[in-house]
Amino acid sequence: MVNILPSASKIRGAAAPFLKIDPTTKETRWRGKLRLSESVEEAHEVKTFRFNLANGEPIPFEYLPGQFVTVHVAPQGVPTRRSYTIASSPTSRDRIEITVKREDRGLVSQWLHDELGIGDEVEIEAPSGTFTFSGKEAESVVLIGGGVGITPLMSVLRYLTATNWTGKIYLILSFRSPRDFIFREELAELQALHANLCVTVTMSDPGDQPWSGRVGRIDADLLASTVPDLTTQRVHVCGPAPMMETVTGALASLGVPQDQIKKEAFGTVKRDPTVKQVRSTEIAGKATFLASGVTAPVPVDATILDAADTAGVSIDNACRSGTCASCRVKLVSGQVTMDIQDGLTDQDKAEGYILACQAKVQGDVEVDI
Ligand SMILES: Cc1cc2nc3c(=O)[nH]c(=O)nc-3n(C[C@H](O)[C@H](O)[C@H](O)COP(=O)(O)OP(=O)(O)OC[C@H]3O[C@@H](n4cnc5c(N)ncnc54)[C@H](O)[C@@H]3O)c2cc1C
Ligand code: FES
Repeated sequence: MVNILPSASKIRGAAAPFLKIDPTTKETRWRGKLRLSESVEEAHEVKTFRFNLANGEPIPFEYLPGQFVTVHVAPQGVPTRRSYTIASSPTSRDRIEITVKREDRGLVSQWLHDELGIGDEVEIEAPSGTFTFSGKEAESVVLIGGGVGITPLMSVLRYLTATNWTGKIYLILSFRSPRDFIFREELAELQALHANLCVTVTMSDPGDQPWSGRVGRIDADLLASTVPDLTTQRVHVCGPAPMMETVTGALASLGVPQDQIKKEAFGTVKRDPTVKQVRSTEIAGKATFLASGVTAPVPVDATILDAADTAGVSIDNACRSGTCASCRVKLVSGQVTMDIQDGLTDQDKAEGYILACQAKVQGDVEVDI
């Protein structure tokens, strides 16, 4: 592992005054520029972007299968961050790949698809995330993905097959229609090469496109008929929120214990920048940002991150939905509630870290940033 301290960003000015430690690997997160060397049309509105170091040296950070990068970019001149899973395998040391769906009116996904050119450099912070599987955690694994939610599962699959893992791998995928089927050819090749891999694909709405496979959503019947001994399996699920809800409900109805189910939501927050957010005038408490020396009121319907934005205090953030942990800050005093805490490890919680994008205050609070 090469530890490189965060360097000053050309987009955002000075780097954060502290080093971020990745909770999974316990290593310092790398921050620097990687160069786009190739982009490939993967499926309808989905492209893979391959990045490497401009000098051709190995990627300067290590990561676990399923972890993600945060890109710091400035589409239309607006400094913005978004998280993207590293879909490639950690065994490929010369590159990382992200596979991105072009969202309708999506700021960063459209910029990546339409404006980023071969040879351009992008500022990247990595790695992050706890939605990982490297084969040590269980003797077999069930990977369930919907749409572009396949990316963390693909990293796991690529890693397990590249390292000739001998456990059974059940990959269960759903796409809307055959034109949305991401990694179709590679999956067929991996299936042909690895007898321990069992791939099941279903299309929710194939329309008039040729498709002779399963049709419908991933439900309890499909899961029960595809995976033997489901209640003893470790299961990873990633996809759009409604799909994840249906699948986790189906797993629960089939008796799979909650602690065997690992989930990641991409948390694409629907935002319409033309609509101005009107906050409540009722104040839940004051937030004091200790390192910044700023105190700001926090309305009852706002988070600490919202209050920081309004007060001009910079807190890193990418998903704003409790997943990526970019906005992790330490609560020094006071009480907060959080709807989602997926981005926090047990150790984070024990050490008093909170997610600013989720934290609603109950009275006055102090945070370290
Ligand atoms: C841990 C993690 C891993 C992820 N990995 C991946 C990955 O591997 N691949 C991937 O594709 N994504 C991934 N994502 C999602 C990704 O981070 C972004 O959320 C996604 O690309 C959308 O960002 P955007 O800037 O394009 O859209 P945004 O600009 O953030 O827009 C978000 C949504 O709001 C809607 N919206 C925007 N403007 C308007 C408007 N004026 N009116 C109405 N609606 C509007 C858009 O339609 C869009 O759906 C991941 C997220 C997380 C948290
Ligand atoms: S911004 Fe991603 S968890 Fe808060």
